[in-house]
Amino acid sequence: MIKLTVHENEKKGTIAPEIYGHFSEHLGRCIYEGIYVGENSPVPNVKGMRKDVVDALKDMAIPVLRWPGGCFADEYHWKDGIGPKDKRKRMVNTNWGGVVEDNSFGTHEYFELCDQLGCKTYINGNVGSGTVQEMSEWIEYMTFEGESPLANERRANGRDKAWKVDWFGVGNENWGCGGNMHPEYYADVYRRYQSFVKMYDKENPIKRIACGPSDFDYDWTEKILNRLFTRCYDHLHGNLDGLSLHYYTLPHNWDHKGSATDFTDEEWYITLFKTLKMDEIITKHSNIMDKYDPKKILALIVDEWGCWYDVEEGTNPGFLYQQNTIRDALVAGINLNIFNKHCDRVRMANIAQTVNVLQSVILTEGPKMVLTPTYHVFRMFKYHQNAELLNSFLTGVAETGLGENMVPEVTESVSKSKDGTINVTLNNLSLEGEREVLIAFDDLKASSVEAEVVTGAMNAHNTFDKPEVVTTEKLDGVKITDEGIVVKLPARSVTLLRVR
Ligand code: AHR
Repeated sequence: MIKLTVHENEKKGTIAPEIYGHFSEHLGRCIYEGIYVGENSPVPNVKGMRKDVVDALKDMAIPVLRWPGGCFADEYHWKDGIGPKDKRKRMVNTNWGGVVEDNSFGTHEYFELCDQLGCKTYINGNVGSGTVQEMSEWIEYMTFEGESPLANERRANGRDKAWKVDWFGVGNENWGCGGNMHPEYYADVYRRYQSFVKMYDKENPIKRIACGPSDFDYDWTEKILNRLFTRCYDHLHGNLDGLSLHYYTLPHNWDHKGSATDFTDEEWYITLFKTLKMDEIITKHSNIMDKYDPKKILALIVDEWGCWYDVEEGTNPGFLYQQNTIRDALVAGINLNIFNKHCDRVRMANIAQTVNVLQSVILTEGPKMVLTPTYHVFRMFKYHQNAELLNSFLTGVAETGLGENMVPEVTESVSKSKDGTINVTLNNLSLEGEREVLIAFDDLKASSVEAEVVTGAMNAHNTFDKPEVVTTEKLDGVKITDEGIVVKLPARSVTLLRVR
């Protein structure tokens, strides 16, 4: 039998709630339609924000929302998105389908949304096509409480109090869509731009995030950290809080990614095999960071992750709309367990993207909304937020898979909430057969355990006609024994146990 050993008295760090973060870009139907419908829409809304979507995201305990991009961020000029809506400048969204953006969702609307969600704010600034002045003025507009031209303009636009910007990204993918820069050049640009991200509110300093690498690009991490830290280390310390990392799971390649719903057993295992690479990627980038920042002051921010498939047939290829199956539930469960295990360095992660784009937690069609299998995983895993990661490991796990794409049958992470409840999340990656796991603690004699599971056929998914094919179900048959807790994980499943 597989054994999960839990040393419940060995705490390995706090799991930042923001690891369960989300990302919403001006891309396809994520912001417009998916989140924002405008106040005059027949879709029930509060100040233009869809009520159904906001309620669902709150239930899932969304901790932070990254906005406005993505590649869009480096062509976004924030002043186009403030003031009377009928006077807002229109622009072409060149990255995503060439559609005309009317800027009706801008800075004020973003903060209104985060306010309704009760979540933290993460804004991505424009380095690729924006000026230092533009970035510095945005910061002043948002966060300066006193009298100043920009703070007064904010007031004239209906917002008296300054807002709180929790994180600010200085550019996005500046090695690609954000300006095609070399790492050394970007590092210098970062130093310049971040100098003007002023801390007007000393009590709530903005955390600044530099553009980090894409997946296996260790050279980028090495070169920018070297350039940022070798000279003036003391000065820069405190001027850089995080480094971003993007890694998407593509079953095949950028020309042929593969279908979201119509896939083979082999593609199931390829997808999970590639997802598991996240652990290696985080470990190797963290090792480089350790060289420059042994005290782990800098956070690694995985602010784009998730599955990227071919778009659904008949939809705009620039809108990145895809379905979401049990395979995506596993991808979410695997990644979230990996992030938990790396909570000493990974302090935020943002799945791409919240609604109607890539690995969404929600899909919408007119007034209808469905929750995806990924949503249900996030809702179950929410108990890890702010909990203490416990030392835990598996033994007796075989590999399963096809051809070269072999994966462990089961992956896990375990945490302890402030009220003493222990949260165990387990994934059964195997296409066939349940796996029995004994969860053994050092001292704890469990008095109660509740278990929930997300499972189904490998390509099971929710549609607007059948929205509850995949949901969370109670997992029966969990036993408390003298040796520990015995649970049978169904094939293709993500399970949460809450142990007291
Ligand atoms: O999430 C879609 C896109 O993927 C983002 O805009 C970009 O940052 C990344 O390449």
